Amino acid sequence: MWTMLLLISGACSNLEPPNEMNTKINDLMDQMTLEEKIGQMNLYNGFWEVTGPAPEEGDAANKYKHLKQGQVGAMLNIHGVENVRKLQELVVNESRLGIPLLFGYDVIHGYKTLAPIPLAEAASWDLEAIEKSSRIAAIEASSVGINWTFAPMVDISRDARWGRVMEGGGEDPYLGSRIAIARVKGFQGEDLSAVNTIVACAKHFAGYGFAEAGRDYNTVDIGTSTLYNIVFPPFQAAVDHGVRTIMNSFNILNGVPATGDTFLQRDLLKQRWGFDGFVVSDWGSTGEMINHGFARDASHAAELAANSGSDMDMESYAYVNHLKALVDSGKVDIATIDNAVERILKVKFELGLFDDPYKYCDPEREKELIYHKDHQNAVLDMAKRSMVLLKNETNLLPLSRGQQKIAVIGALANDKNSPLGSWRLSSDDNTAVSVLEGLKSYTDQVTYAKGADLVTAETTFINEVPINETDKSGFRDAVKLARKSNVVVMVLGEHGYQSGEGRSRTQLDLPGVQQELLEAVYEANKNIILILMNGRPLAIPWAAEHVPTILESWHLGSQSGNAIAEVLFGEYNPSGKLPMTFPRSVGQVPIFYNHYNTGRPDGLDIVFWSHYMDESNAPLYPFGHGLSYTTFDYTNLSVEVSGASKVNVKVTVTNSGQMAGEEVTQVYIRDVVASVVRPVKELKGFKKFSLEPGQSRIVEFQLTEKELGFYDNKGNFKVEPGKFEILVGTSSVEGLSGEFEI
Ligand code: NOJ
Repeated sequence: MWTMLLLISGACSNLEPPNEMNTKINDLMDQMTLEEKIGQMNLYNGFWEVTGPAPEEGDAANKYKHLKQGQVGAMLNIHGVENVRKLQELVVNESRLGIPLLFGYDVIHGYKTLAPIPLAEAASWDLEAIEKSSRIAAIEASSVGINWTFAPMVDISRDARWGRVMEGGGEDPYLGSRIAIARVKGFQGEDLSAVNTIVACAKHFAGYGFAEAGRDYNTVDIGTSTLYNIVFPPFQAAVDHGVRTIMNSFNILNGVPATGDTFLQRDLLKQRWGFDGFVVSDWGSTGEMINHGFARDASHAAELAANSGSDMDMESYAYVNHLKALVDSGKVDIATIDNAVERILKVKFELGLFDDPYKYCDPEREKELIYHKDHQNAVLDMAKRSMVLLKNETNLLPLSRGQQKIAVIGALANDKNSPLGSWRLSSDDNTAVSVLEGLKSYTDQVTYAKGADLVTAETTFINEVPINETDKSGFRDAVKLARKSNVVVMVLGEHGYQSGEGRSRTQLDLPGVQQELLEAVYEANKNIILILMNGRPLAIPWAAEHVPTILESWHLGSQSGNAIAEVLFGEYNPSGKLPMTFPRSVGQVPIFYNHYNTGRPDGLDIVFWSHYMDESNAPLYPFGHGLSYTTFDYTNLSVEVSGASKVNVKVTVTNSGQMAGEEVTQVYIRDVVASVVRPVKELKGFKKFSLEPGQSRIVEFQLTEKELGFYDNKGNFKVEPGKFEILVGTSSVEGLSGEFEI
């Protein structure tokens, strides 16, 4: 029936799609019972063998029954064409109105073919590449029946203790917003009804990245200025670029759980920003409002969540069990339900599910696209772009393919699992190319010694990672090998499951005995190239002081080892820049470049200034930092104000080294005096481009009201006249500076 209706209306050239959609949705809404409406607001996790016999008892049986009764609007964690088709058929054929399901999944940096973790991709500062990466993820995911991803995570975070920094774009709202847009475009494409595009979900609204002490799920208490200027912008950018869903958040924000926050979900998101998609809760976050001390019981939680604008309940059973009684008793208005359901149906319509509920269920597509060669090439390219050369003091890199003997040391060097990162549930274990494998494809002069295990037992997504804190029995062989080698490649860092959800750390060092291993090897051979493999900034002051070369490789995904080998041998010249500050010590955290000044910022001989007694204020590696095998010179900065608030910025960048390379030119400003004080620096523009040796380029930026203004403490955006400082250069601390006045 749906197909016919669409064909008929499609033939009418002056019929605008929104009208057609509204008619359809209204027709449907007229037919729906209250239970069926509430059903659309219910999202269940699918945990049983869906292609097997119908479950007969327990939770699964209940969910199965609800599916047949049209009391489920979406499922998560059901993937694979066969599984998705099975449940879609159940709903379409057996529920009264046959409204197709959405199938949601955490496609965070790929489905089977995995790209680098999002924090690594952010380090590329390459928006085109990031968009492409999300596009590839959407293509693969859509081929297995998924039509909704719970990504991008656009939470800004300044706290590397928080394990989920791996999932976001780092600490800066400007970079974070640009990345949010790229990802939404990548997932959703130009046309959501195409077979290879999926609905994106900007999460977690809001403040989740500011969990106190970096402990996951913890309290968030932040001021208005930070909320409007730091936390909200990436969400607003995603909304402005058409993201169709938003996920709220586990945390309380200034005393109110995000899932029950009317200000966030109704006043700001839906009213002020005009978001017309739907809001989904996080897993169980409706019910968790009871633990927060905000809701008395599940019924109260459902009431608070629905009334505050949370349209769909993920796995709390709060809506399906309580909303009807709440409507009957007048505690939740039917208009609230209708509004939520309309939003959800609209997204289903936009996906084309009413036209063809099985459009994502083509087994041929699935077979063809999983681990497709083009996807492997794309994630390899992305992985190369994501690495950050932190230090290359003695130019150990790039390696020559000659006869130098290379020792490879560290458990992570031979690990085919960790590079896949934390969010890789859908991928297959041990499918990443290891560093060792990557290097061996370049030279046969490679010898490996593990040195020490990083973990002591099997690791899983849901359990703590058992770290080896004691066994150093492999040190001797590693040291021996280092001694007889010309150069040592040490791969150290975090296991893939040491970052991600529920993976907060109080230490940001190299876990287990890795630091001791590093120092022992250094005693034997100082020519160390340290490859960091990790999901968050690490505090590695000893390495930064002693080890001549450090390459940040993060968790790079399926093609990790190949990408690292290409960079080590100079086939690709590293071009990444840090999207998050690296601290010297965990005690400095939260440390971030766009902080405010204090009243006592400057060093004094006496103690009464803003500092630590036992550590400098400076980061180990600042935001925006990243070296290349070549060098870039900055000259001729020109800053011209035109009109009331337009500033034209030009700078000449020259490749002054011997190799072609890519540079990311960054623009930072400071509004020197403002009615609400502004940070000492704020990123307001960047451009990535490549230059041949000796080649120069004039790089231009235009700063407009959008870049020059800020939100005051009432959430009003304003540009205040006065003096600005500007820095244009290669990182947040290095470049040419100037001033201008508007
Ligand atoms: C909880 C996480 O916070 C959220 O990001 C994720 O999408 C859901 N679980 C579903 O897996």
